[in-house]
Amino acid sequence: MTGTDGGPDREMRVSKIENGTVIDHITSGQALNVLALLSIDGTGGDVVSVGINVPSDRLGYKDVAKIEGRELSQSELDVLSLIAPAATINIIRGYEVADKQRVEPPEHVSGVLDCPNPDCISTEDEPVDPRFEVLGDGLRCVYCDTIVRDDIAEHIRA
Ligand code: CTP
Ligand code: ZN
Repeated sequence: MTGTDGGPDREMRVSKIENGTVIDHITSGQALNVLALLSIDGTGGDVVSVGINVPSDRLGYKDVAKIEGRELSQSELDVLSLIAPAATINIIRGYEVADKQRVEPPEHVSGVLDCPNPDCISTEDEPVDPRFEVLGDGLRCVYCDTIVRDDIAEHIRA
């Protein structure tokens, strides 16, 4: 069997998983940010395999993250679409690809990214979740209008 991405199986760098989620075609260099937004830092016991800057026919180079025994929520997929717009989400069940979908940018993202403005109502000790409108080329805080354009991943909530 051969794959279109990464060549024949004997060249596969990261082995197949039985159940879980394969996030494929991640913008190269963004895999660790993808794991951060999923709150995966290695201490929670998640079984994760990561490929960084691996050759890809479609993208030149890409990252891949394979997360065993876990499926992603819509809000996780929403933020993922902002840092890895070409990502493919493969749901794996019993070693087979049970579902494959592309990510799509949402109209708004709430809760996962923090506003960089220290005086914003969403960053003070108020019960106000940060919320951004998704623009074509960035994000706009709905409370203080601060624009986040570069390095969206830097604003992922700790
Ligand atoms: N995969 C995996 N474990 C499985 C099945 C698939 O880790 N049990 C991974 C593959 O290595 C690949 C991704 O899930 O990175 C998608 O698998 P598949 O659809 O078989 O590959 P392609 O056809 O190359 O996908 P695409 O067309 O999206 O590039
Ligand atoms: Zn703000």
